[in-house]
Amino acid sequence: MLNVSRSQADRYQRFAALSDSVGEAVVAIAGLSAAQRIDVDFLEREFIPALGLNDESLREQPSELSASFGKGLHIWQYPSQLAPYLAWLSRNASGVSSFMEIGCRWGGMFILVAEWLRNVGADLKTVIAVDPIDPTPFITTYFDLLRERAEIEPVYLQAYSNAPVVSAYVDRVKPDFVYVDGDHSLRGAMLDHLMVRSHASIIVHHDIHSQACPDTTLLWKALKEFEAPSFDTFEFTSQYPSVNGTFLGIGAMKRRPVQA
Ligand SMILES: C[S@@+](CC[C@H](N)C(=O)[O-])C[C@H]1O[C@@H](n2cnc3c(N)ncnc32)[C@H](O)[C@@H]1O
Repeated sequence: MLNVSRSQADRYQRFAALSDSVGEAVVAIAGLSAAQRIDVDFLEREFIPALGLNDESLREQPSELSASFGKGLHIWQYPSQLAPYLAWLSRNASGVSSFMEIGCRWGGMFILVAEWLRNVGADLKTVIAVDPIDPTPFITTYFDLLRERAEIEPVYLQAYSNAPVVSAYVDRVKPDFVYVDGDHSLRGAMLDHLMVRSHASIIVHHDIHSQACPDTTLLWKALKEFEAPSFDTFEFTSQYPSVNGTFLGIGAMKRRPVQA
């Protein structure tokens, strides 16, 4: 294990012990009915907390969700933002064949969205996780499962998104759904957007409404205007009154069909 600090190494050990969560989540997602996949209230209050939430930066998290912190897939989202986003994906991702997450970290969100896409009618052929850190136990467990199924090609690019290996891959495969959650500087997140904007049909940015991430918040504000001629935008930024401040936020862009 080359690229991890001591505290990260502890986490890899902890996640190795939790790797059953991956298969359990895959089964739970597949078990949802079509009605449950667009039932925002159910997703927010039952389904997402049961998947397990991340326990980093807890001062940004609502204490009422504490029973879910440090459990399962360690999803790093507010259920109140993720639930309407998942319901939106259920209605908007049918044509997606390749999904890439820039900055996949532990992998919980990557696994959730990849499996969500598979179950809402996307014709998924390739999933690509990008992060400079070593693949985590969640990622390796999920990739083993995908290789067994032999329907979707899993790709891990262990690199920063501005590395030539990533841009060469993107030029070749042209992922049509990209989730940007890696470098949170204005320049870094903008470069990620520019790398994929000419071909992606869906581009999603994270931390678009966060006082902890002023650059990605500003970038989203600008992109909403600059990309308006080509993309429709959707925001999932609901906040918890129990948290002191505004955090996270998901911004989705969907390319508008070209008029004949
Ligand atoms: C906020 S975390 C991502 C959380 C993850 N998307 C999730 O939902 O659980 C940011 C991650 O981006 C990675 N990262 C930072 N700069 C990056 C870059 N230029 N390209 C790819 N990943 C990057 C970090 O190693 C870190 O794992």
